[in-house]
Amino acid sequence: MAGFPKNFLWGGASAANQCEGGIFEGGRGLANVDVCPSGADRGAVITGYRKMLQMDEGHHYPAAEAVDFYHRFREDIRLLGGMGLQVYRMSIAWTRIFPKGDEEEPNEEGLRFYEEVFRECRKNGIRPLVTICHFDCPVYLIEKYGGWRNRKMIGFYLRLCRTLFERYKDYVTHWLTFNEINMILHAPFMGAGLCFEEGEDEEAVKYQAAHHELVASALATKLAHEINPANQIGCMFAAGSAYPYSCRPEDVWEALLMNQENYFFVDVQSRGYYPSYAVKRLEKRGVFPQMEPEDVEILKKHTVDFVSFSYYNSRCIAASGDQETAEGNLFQSAKNPYLQFSEWGWPIDPLGFRITLNEVYDRYQKPLFVVENGLGATDRPDGDGRIEDDYRISYLREHIRAMKAAVEEDGVDLMGYTSWAPIDLISAGTGEMKKRYGFIYVDKQEDGSGTLERIKKKSFHWYQRVIETNGEEL
Ligand code: BG6
Repeated sequence: MAGFPKNFLWGGASAANQCEGGIFEGGRGLANVDVCPSGADRGAVITGYRKMLQMDEGHHYPAAEAVDFYHRFREDIRLLGGMGLQVYRMSIAWTRIFPKGDEEEPNEEGLRFYEEVFRECRKNGIRPLVTICHFDCPVYLIEKYGGWRNRKMIGFYLRLCRTLFERYKDYVTHWLTFNEINMILHAPFMGAGLCFEEGEDEEAVKYQAAHHELVASALATKLAHEINPANQIGCMFAAGSAYPYSCRPEDVWEALLMNQENYFFVDVQSRGYYPSYAVKRLEKRGVFPQMEPEDVEILKKHTVDFVSFSYYNSRCIAASGDQETAEGNLFQSAKNPYLQFSEWGWPIDPLGFRITLNEVYDRYQKPLFVVENGLGATDRPDGDGRIEDDYRISYLREHIRAMKAAVEEDGVDLMGYTSWAPIDLISAGTGEMKKRYGFIYVDKQEDGSGTLERIKKKSFHWYQRVIETNGEEL
């Protein structure tokens, strides 16, 4: 078979907290993602070292307005339909449905909002792929229960899942339980509502919270299949193979450890049990999570149907030495001397994408879905307001070529590709607006000014053609 399969799904991906805004509307409650400020304090807040559970005057909170998808979703989805998008990956803001998180009954206004979004998608020939939790956790659940460190979260999350699976049965069949579940290790407040107390063993808290998410994910998979046998459930992790800095066995060993740390979550979600390397290491460090007797069976029985991931860059690691470091999708690593870097210092490595696709497929032997990939860059409209983003086209072209080789030549079973993000939105890592990923420009500037007008970039027309030709014309 040459090229992508006929039923390959082309699309784009976003997250509620990075595009919706309208955080005080429709009865919505406050979430961890709302109280992550932009600027110098963001790092300490998203990693859980600085506790910020409400907004204060001295900070700017970019999620509050974001790019106003909450009010403009019809126009936005029409634009996406015009680009030929077949699938739109989006997330549900938990606090629109359960404003505090532990209510018995959902908020009807929130449910209606997403119903309208799904209707609009359908009108435009777009199928939704829904992330149930893209980093959000109601602030109330953090204050009252401590976020995912508390096992009670499983029940609250499942109530949300049941509500969504039942209500949107006619609109959605493809779901992701948690966005980048491994991000809990790197940005634990943003990823799971964890704030650390003085003297506490952070590793123990993170792995306990991760265990709760893993059980919740398995039970959500069970529930989804019961409610609608047509439901397909995926896990989602931040991927990007770790390379050894050299062929020194010590460097190779470090890379193996780094990869295992990253694959740990999917090993559980896809294979159904804690891998032996994790059991040994977590026990040795005294941070093996507390489990209930039924957990082993739950994890084993309800593994995911497909494995999805984000890929922005590969990583690189040495056992020792003072190598320069490189940024990346919330992970730092050694700077790979063979690669080019984005404006934000992230390595650009299309072959690394093919390597990652092969590694993940070899490991799990389940269909894969690439649900994030893209280039964050500053776009500068020219005198006529046009945005000629050839740098973005070139990044995506090379990555899609690598993905095509993985499918065509290596036999990787790939369901689809949703680039991050079809419409400019705010950055998760930095909270900046100027770090843009879209095919569609949003007139909103770093200082909050702008008309919010949507403008098609050059890449819009390029991606439209990619979709039309099923990836033949790049
Ligand atoms: C992933 C997240 O980590 O990478 C997205 O799932 C995020 O939410 C994306 O936006 C790109 O990262 P950033 O920091 O450039 O927004």
